[in-house]
Amino acid sequence: MKTLDAKALRQLWFDFFTERGHKIIRSASLIPENDPTVLFTTAGMHPLVPYLLGEKHPEGNRLADVQKCVRTGDIDEVGDAGHCTFFEMLGNWSLGDYFKSEMIPWSYEFLTRKLGIDKDKLAVSVFAGDEDCPADTASAELWEKCGIPKENIFFLPKSNNWWGPAGITGPCGPDTEMFIDTGKPKCSEHCSPACDCGKYLEIWNDVFMEFNKNADGKYEPLKQKNVDTGMGLERTLCILQGKKSVYETDLFAPVIAKISSLCGKSYGEDENITKAMRIVADHVRTSVFMIGDEKGVVCSNVDQGYILRRLLRRAIRYSKTLELPPHSLVSIADAVLEIYDGVYPELNENADKIRDEIAREEERFEHTLQGGIKEFEKLRTYLVGDTISGKAAFKLYDTYGFPIEMTVELAAENGLKVNVEDFEKAFKEHQEKSHQGAEQKFKGGLADNTEKTARLHTATHLMHKALKEVLHDENANQKGSNITEERLRFDFTFPRPLTPEEIRAVEDKVNEAIQADVEIVCEEMTVDEARKRGAVGLFASKYGEKVKVYTMGKYSMEICGGPHAKRTGELGKFKIIKEQSSSAGVRRIKAILEE
Ligand code: SER
Repeated sequence: MKTLDAKALRQLWFDFFTERGHKIIRSASLIPENDPTVLFTTAGMHPLVPYLLGEKHPEGNRLADVQKCVRTGDIDEVGDAGHCTFFEMLGNWSLGDYFKSEMIPWSYEFLTRKLGIDKDKLAVSVFAGDEDCPADTASAELWEKCGIPKENIFFLPKSNNWWGPAGITGPCGPDTEMFIDTGKPKCSEHCSPACDCGKYLEIWNDVFMEFNKNADGKYEPLKQKNVDTGMGLERTLCILQGKKSVYETDLFAPVIAKISSLCGKSYGEDENITKAMRIVADHVRTSVFMIGDEKGVVCSNVDQGYILRRLLRRAIRYSKTLELPPHSLVSIADAVLEIYDGVYPELNENADKIRDEIAREEERFEHTLQGGIKEFEKLRTYLVGDTISGKAAFKLYDTYGFPIEMTVELAAENGLKVNVEDFEKAFKEHQEKSHQGAEQKFKGGLADNTEKTARLHTATHLMHKALKEVLHDENANQKGSNITEERLRFDFTFPRPLTPEEIRAVEDKVNEAIQADVEIVCEEMTVDEARKRGAVGLFASKYGEKVKVYTMGKYSMEICGGPHAKRTGELGKFKIIKEQSSSAGVRRIKAILEE
């Protein structure tokens, strides 16, 4: 095996695929453009979904890259040898071009010749087949032809050998995975790459993407057959460098060394210390990438910002275990920045922002952490039974800034549970109160400023519905909306530019609704009721239990906080002034109302 560092492995990947006709593309942002079902980019294929579904990629149909990814499903597992919340994925794609008979021999060649892995140390798995898709005997035969002995080719079910979709819907298919056989004895006669006894380490995954999983959970054949492969950079380095843990590779060692010098303790000296060092290193690294992303995240209490806050606060808590001096995270972030110098230019560009945001969150949380720990100790001492109440957990959240996950973790360390359900109730009540507050403010704003924005808002609803109808696409969904006195701006999911005829048809539909001069009716109902009646509404989770539904005759019905015009007849003449791309798979329309 060749001992490569991260820079050398990335370069080897780019060269290998460039030689095979691929264009190298830049890593996309960590924040997905067109998938409201996940918060972060979780795989290399994620930003390429529109192209896997058939849209033309400007760089052609053979692509390769290294993609920044974040997976936060198991933040609480971080601290062991292998889990990381951030990782880089080496990937290559065929968009309806080559398929299995090219990809499998290339995979074999890269692993054996470029990485120098002994072929007898390779094991592979292929899809065993089920009612959605037959067994992948073609891949098994190709592997055999390369020289992998039959006994090292495993047929496994969907739970192991099926990939995707990345969110709830999207492209997916059977895959073939490649493993290093560590030479450990089989743990049982059924031992296979599916088991986690440590005999087999996964190194690469080739997905043969032939299906699209739709919103009903059905697998439809894709228009084109794609290849999507992914190799985890950190894990592969760990194998190639013969390390026990990713934290010992060149992507982490300098960060661990920095932590060590700041706290005067050594990595490996004690299980708790090692775990705390890994947690701090991982969480700071992920935070650096989130804040330094081209669509920079900042700490908040919702969505991506909440995950960032959770990571930083968990890192701060574990820095207490290490007895790191206060405000150490910024210097640890500097060690991370150095490792990626010249690899991700956005990190260099945003270095000050990264330092400021981390320093600010340290400042905020250092302030309340000690008080919160004291409060927790009090709770623990006087607790009757073994469950911390939702109300107490909410106080820790609201007054001391403890993310609920942190309270749960602290409780577990003390052999206790938390009533998370009650916490969520308390949280929701609190949210509803502030939601009402926000609505009041909006109403106030409208009274002294403008009925024009309300009219443009009404036009936005009519246009949203008209787009779905004219484009025959129920998934032409709102991605963003911005209204000024002069114009509306509306972003929606759609894979291609609109034709002039379609633009006219949308204008005509909206103007027809305006002509009809229907009354705009607002009703309150539950989200379920609104859905049952067929209301459009995408951001249900952000609303309280009861929502407002605005109905405009037969022309539109949408969940919305308002405000709107009283009748559609007030709107004037609707005109689209611009239709353009907003980002991959998202279009942007600007429109006005002429008096
Ligand atoms: N999408 C697949 C994975 O994440 C291959 O790139 O493993």
